[in-house]
Amino acid sequence: MARIALVTGGIGGLGTAICTRLATDGYTVIANHHPSEADAAIAWQQARTAEGLNIATIAADVSSFEDSTRMVNEITAAHGPIDILVNCAGITRDKTFRKMEAAHWNAVIDVNLNSIFNVTRPVWEGMLERGFGRIINISSVNGQRGQFGQANYSAAKAGMHGFTMALAQEGAAKGVTVNTVSPGYTETAMTLAIDDAVRSSIINGIPMRRMAQPSEIAAAIAFLASDDSAYITGANLPVNGGLFMH
Ligand code: CAA
Repeated sequence: MARIALVTGGIGGLGTAICTRLATDGYTVIANHHPSEADAAIAWQQARTAEGLNIATIAADVSSFEDSTRMVNEITAAHGPIDILVNCAGITRDKTFRKMEAAHWNAVIDVNLNSIFNVTRPVWEGMLERGFGRIINISSVNGQRGQFGQANYSAAKAGMHGFTMALAQEGAAKGVTVNTVSPGYTETAMTLAIDDAVRSSIINGIPMRRMAQPSEIAAAIAFLASDDSAYITGANLPVNGGLFMH
């Protein structure tokens, strides 16, 4: 039977590429979206069907533990237990720190960092019991090196990898791997929202002189989801065109 993959933020720029890639690779894929995106999710699913891919969608606010738990329970009842969790939901509220308000900080920490507790916690014990699981946390180059205007986002993204390393140790002897992927700047709506002048100066600073295609990030996730990556856990895989090396 096909393994079951849940992708949070699954109808977003990166999420779409990840869902598409995993579905093409033969997984049963469920794309999570925010409850406010119900109409967009219907159109998204129709677009995938037109591409020949059958991907389920499910609404849940991943910044809420209760809603995330409900989502996991519903997926388990409808499809079976989740084998692969891709924590991809994320937002930006870019502000220089002197202009950053508590609401900007809290929104980013809730959606980008607290969500990984909220969604991973209800799938975790089942993975340990079944002796197989893949948790893949989508962080960012800016969690590794910091970014002007992103104190909130950089903090959340760095926190994700701390979570990865701790949880990797708890899952290692039970067949459950936990890894981070840290994309660089990728062509999605999130980076299109950056001011044009700022965006071109960012691209000039990338050794490859271009942003990533979402499919190039999805390829790394597909690898970490596969059996080929069985001995990799607690890793942080950069996919950033050379923007940050360590
Ligand atoms: N380094 C140093 N100084 C910088 C700077 C930088 N990178 N960028 C701007 N500044 C300076 C300006 O020159 C200006 O200086 P003066 O005040 O001396 O003139 C000052 O900062 C501007 O400060 P403001 O508070 O007025 O900033 P702003 O409101 O004009 O814009 C910002 C701030 C919205 C954060 C803008 O700088 C920005 O969009 N930066 C890009 C942030 C970014 O990379 N976001 C990534 C989004 S995509 C993503 O997050 C995906 C991923 O994982 C990669």
